[in-house]
Amino acid sequence: MNENQQHWDKVYSEKPPTEVSWYEPMPEISLNLIDECKPAKDASIIDIGGGDSFLAEFLVSKGYEDVTVVDISQNAIERAKERMCEKADQVTWIVADAAEFKPDKKFDLWHDRAAFHFLTDKVQQENYLNTLFEAVKPGGFVIMSTFSDKGPETCSGLKVQRYSVGEMQKLFEEEFNVLSGKTVDHTTPSGDTQNFTVCSFQRKE
Ligand SMILES: C[S@@+](CC[C@H](N)C(=O)[O-])C[C@H]1O[C@@H](n2cnc3c(N)ncnc32)[C@H](O)[C@@H]1O
Repeated sequence: MNENQQHWDKVYSEKPPTEVSWYEPMPEISLNLIDECKPAKDASIIDIGGGDSFLAEFLVSKGYEDVTVVDISQNAIERAKERMCEKADQVTWIVADAAEFKPDKKFDLWHDRAAFHFLTDKVQQENYLNTLFEAVKPGGFVIMSTFSDKGPETCSGLKVQRYSVGEMQKLFEEEFNVLSGKTVDHTTPSGDTQNFTVCSFQRKE
């Protein structure tokens, strides 16, 4: 197990779900953006760094049949599975580092809230983006949320790479059409405000 995995497994073994700074009982922004993409119920949807967030659970409850969650932390995934009980069987769970992960299929929709920004090394960022570019089908969608240029410089004790809306869109504009881009404030359970960049894209046909 590498240091990064150890870090995240420790976080998920020590902090209850409602105390992690990224906690949101209802992933409203993500769900709204996913709705706007109008995926079919059998669309393949992947949540990178999904942790034990409620997104997969909401998607399954809404009738999506092909949901995959990737996270570097086994503990996070175990926690999500336990919470979801038998609904967890409807999700494909993968423990992997997003900087090295190679999916064995293509996706209609790629979602990432606050995982990509932990990749602060250029090579890791390139690996992640190359994997995404290969894995998202033509016409498929990408929804990315990271700390904005006005957001915190660290999260969970780790340095993050912050992106303005323009910087995020620049990463995608060659291969994707830009659908939306905005900044939003997330209020953490301890009452702090974190400014996020949230963008959505559609892969050119
Ligand atoms: C800030 S949390 C966000 C969790 C979730 N996306 C949400 O919105 O609630 C970051 C998540 O990314 C995972 N993560 C961090 N680095 C990762 C990596 N290199 N590959 C895969 N997952 C990673 C962590 O384990 C954690 O679950």
